[in-house]
Amino acid sequence: MSQKMSVNIAPSILAADFSILGEEIRKVRPVADFLHLDVMDGHYVPNITIGVPVVESLRKVSDQIFDVHLMITNPLDYIEAFASAGADYITVHVETLENPLSALRLIRDSGKKPGLSIHPDTPIEAVFPYLSEVDLVLVMSVRPGFGGQKFMPQSCDRISAVRAELDRINNHAIVSVDGGIHKGNASDVVRAGANLLVVGSAVFGEKDPAQAVREIMSCATS
Ligand code: DX5
Ligand code: ZN
Repeated sequence: MSQKMSVNIAPSILAADFSILGEEIRKVRPVADFLHLDVMDGHYVPNITIGVPVVESLRKVSDQIFDVHLMITNPLDYIEAFASAGADYITVHVETLENPLSALRLIRDSGKKPGLSIHPDTPIEAVFPYLSEVDLVLVMSVRPGFGGQKFMPQSCDRISAVRAELDRINNHAIVSVDGGIHKGNASDVVRAGANLLVVGSAVFGEKDPAQAVREIMSCATS
């Protein structure tokens, strides 16, 4: 079933040059409908990145689908702000929530698409009780916090498990994979059931980011 789904690449701006973000995202616009925005608070993860004002500014210069990945301790407190800033998907980590369902519903009620993410050290079944409420599941394939890490190979089984459970409940949500994706493993994660590949370094670390997206895409779907 997963082979028939459309596959997209979401370039992650974490690996872009922050001094020229507008230019960086224009480079990938012709080849990427999605853009992945990593929000880190220096608390849930040991790094600090961008927040609401950057999402708001980028919204003015991009018509891409903004996939906002919240790696923050109190996501409930910021959902409305990111929704108003122009997020399309808002993804929260299951580990950060006492009541994931209420967060997913709050995202839906604010007119956005709810995503649920899971840390590689958390048993994958932790997201299963909430899958009927999601439009996207983000399977982290590195420990969240930094770009440029190595893909954890056990992620493929975790992707397959999520996809199988979504199929069982007849939810055609996106399964996204984030961390260490490149030309060499793109087809493995797609075969496992992923259909949104978040890619940072292997896109913005290349001289021609658009060409890099095309090449990863062609590997992903071959
Ligand atoms: C890591 C972030 C990723 C990161 C991926 O915590 O969630 O989105 O940008 O970067 P690469 O592709 O370099 O692993
Ligand atoms: Zn991310």
